Amino acid sequence: MWPCLVMSAALLVVLRRDLPRKHLHRLPSLNPITLRRLRVVYCVLSLRCTIMAGASLHPPTDPCANGERSGHAAVPSSDVGTGGEDAGIPVVDYDVLVNGAADQRAQAIRDLGRACEDWGFFMVINHGVPEDLKEAVMETCRELLLSLPAEEKAEYLEAGPMDPVRIGSGFYSVVDGARYWRDYFKMFVHPELLHCPAKPAKLRDVATEYAVKTRHLLLSLATAISESLGLDGDRVREAMDLESCFQILAANHYPPYAGPGDVGLGLPPHSDHGFLTLLFQNGVDGLQVEHDGRWVLATPLPGAFFVIAGDQMEIVSNGRYKSTLHRAVVGGERARMSMVSMISPCLDTVVEPVPELAQDGQGLEFRGIRYRDYMEHQQSNKLNGNAALDIARVQRDISGAENCD
Ligand code: OGA
Ligand code: NI
Repeated sequence: MWPCLVMSAALLVVLRRDLPRKHLHRLPSLNPITLRRLRVVYCVLSLRCTIMAGASLHPPTDPCANGERSGHAAVPSSDVGTGGEDAGIPVVDYDVLVNGAADQRAQAIRDLGRACEDWGFFMVINHGVPEDLKEAVMETCRELLLSLPAEEKAEYLEAGPMDPVRIGSGFYSVVDGARYWRDYFKMFVHPELLHCPAKPAKLRDVATEYAVKTRHLLLSLATAISESLGLDGDRVREAMDLESCFQILAANHYPPYAGPGDVGLGLPPHSDHGFLTLLFQNGVDGLQVEHDGRWVLATPLPGAFFVIAGDQMEIVSNGRYKSTLHRAVVGGERARMSMVSMISPCLDTVVEPVPELAQDGQGLEFRGIRYRDYMEHQQSNKLNGNAALDIARVQRDISGAENCD
């Protein structure tokens, strides 16, 4: 039985290394156990092939076993932005935003609008998400990435961008060869948490609780952002069907980095495909955001979350609030971890700019695009800054006339 499985899986790997996992289900007349075994062998062989090809995909179970990821990306230390508490990153006090007196609230909304316009990035304090819940979700995801045996993770290793649970290295190893110094776990948590790895046993509960609390926070921020654009609080939420929003949780683990090059790149510059991303880290800095043409290292206030504007923010606001380019650098001896909770429009919503935000004489900057299509497009190609937005951007010629092709 096993030699036969190895042979079949090897054949699949040789024929088509990036064969999506779902195709394995289509193989005729295999019982589920054989299918599962075949999938494990296929994943292991795929990893071996990637390593032999020099791309060095590290299985996340053993993310830094020998300290090498050949062909990976690094940045010179001179390119690492300055940061620290005086970097000027805007701070939003959530408590004032929801409970403040009318004048305090109005001021907080104006400040939020300026943060979105100038940075597309801010910290949120007094957000009400308990510290012990943050710790629990990060610890559970660390256990999943670092302590679970390969067989437990195998079925998620070959997942594609639209699969509900995914474990991998780099950005998307099929397109980037896992050049980046990162292992990740991603899971769709809303509108349904249908698929959740069975281990660690507490993952489902802890992820659900964290998703509910962070979704509530992000939806309230969406209301305030809508007001900051001069719209009704509900307007932006309605435009994207955020009540049944699509939400992803992700954990990033960046192993310690020992060169070559000065600083390893964990994630290349990109903007997020969703509407708003909430992020916290394990006390090791590494997130950088682009601001006024420079990379700024983001150092959080104690307990704060970072909030990052995504591509849907740029589309729905008709370009008033841009999505923010950011990247993750890693370096030094300490492993870095970050937890991401991102809300996006409902997958079937066609996202387009709120018409009230059309600019005088210019009209709308973006055409409508179904969020599912946008996400698939951004996630299936190499990360390239915020270039994915171009598929939704209205092209104009020099005279400003709309180009219809
Ligand atoms: C991401 C991301 C940055 C970080 O997951 O999209 O940008 O600091 N992460 O981990
Ligand atoms: Ni990101």
